[in-house]
Amino acid sequence: MNQLDSIVDTARTSFNEAVTPADLENAKAGFLGKAGRITELMKSLARLPVDEKKLRGAAVNVAKQAIEAALTARREALAGAELQVQLQAEALDISLPGRRRVAGGLHPVSLSTERIEAIFGSMGFEVAQGPEIEADWFNFTALNTPEDHPARSMHDTFYVEGGTSGAPNLLRTHTSPVQIRHAVQHVKKYRNLIDAGQAMPEIRVIVPGRCYRVDSDATHSPMFHQVEGLWVGENISFKDLKVVYLDFIQAFFETKDLDIRFRPSFFPFTEPSAEIDIMFGTGPLKGRWLEVSGSGQVHPNVIRNMGLDPERYIGFAFGSGIDRLTMLRYGVDDLRLFFDGDIRFLSQFQ
Ligand code: DAH
Repeated sequence: MNQLDSIVDTARTSFNEAVTPADLENAKAGFLGKAGRITELMKSLARLPVDEKKLRGAAVNVAKQAIEAALTARREALAGAELQVQLQAEALDISLPGRRRVAGGLHPVSLSTERIEAIFGSMGFEVAQGPEIEADWFNFTALNTPEDHPARSMHDTFYVEGGTSGAPNLLRTHTSPVQIRHAVQHVKKYRNLIDAGQAMPEIRVIVPGRCYRVDSDATHSPMFHQVEGLWVGENISFKDLKVVYLDFIQAFFETKDLDIRFRPSFFPFTEPSAEIDIMFGTGPLKGRWLEVSGSGQVHPNVIRNMGLDPERYIGFAFGSGIDRLTMLRYGVDDLRLFFDGDIRFLSQFQ
């Protein structure tokens, strides 16, 4: 093997022994660097006679190119290996089962609320809302329940800070205050019509929402849900209440085999007042009257507090327990299950 071939050979070997790019660059210096063997050979060409210089120069060049090719090949090999290492380190184990995102669902009380809104919506009722921290005026006084009225003791009220003229604010004990709030807005909107003696568009609204009372057992929770209903116009009667409520309750329970009855009762904001009981003709609750709602014809004082003339406007109202309706619909016998947050219970409604 001539001298040049052996240099090329040595270069290949030392390049192949290099295991990192830095090793390789060091090895390169020994051949192609300033004092490298090929560089030295190039320099020595100067001392040769012209003819020899040509021949020898060409041979050294061939050797140099061979070394450069070996260097490039090794550089690529090392870079490839480095990439492999990196890929392996960052590898994803695609055989691992993925983390599944389980779909949640609506709470049974929310499902009922949506049903109630849809059913009354189809009868032309708007849906309104009101604050849960309420003023004494809206919760009691405007609803014909002045201070010291014995009916106030029917509601075990949570009082909170704040309030006006000595009457503390409270957590609303029913959704009825929104009757006043909504009606006042409605009347304001149609003030011009009303003042001109023209007929105002009827108030037809339901108000689902949370209420609060100091009460807790299997059928009472300190926080519970009601839906208020209000229909006020020039010619609305108890007969309309019966038709509307029967339609609603049959749609809600998805059966025509269901009857309702009105039982005389007392509420300060209605006169006359009635409890609404329902009775199923089939199923596990068959034949028992079950109380689901208070109701009545809106009291003239309440009509007045809405900003309307009770000689002209008349209407009905009702307030039903959404939790109670939900318990009856799904056959749940303890109200507290709704608010314990137990996923085994809640997932049965999806
Ligand atoms: N607010 C009453 C309660 O919580 C229920 C009620 C009765 C609402 C009669 C009404 C009504 O709108 O007319 O006990």
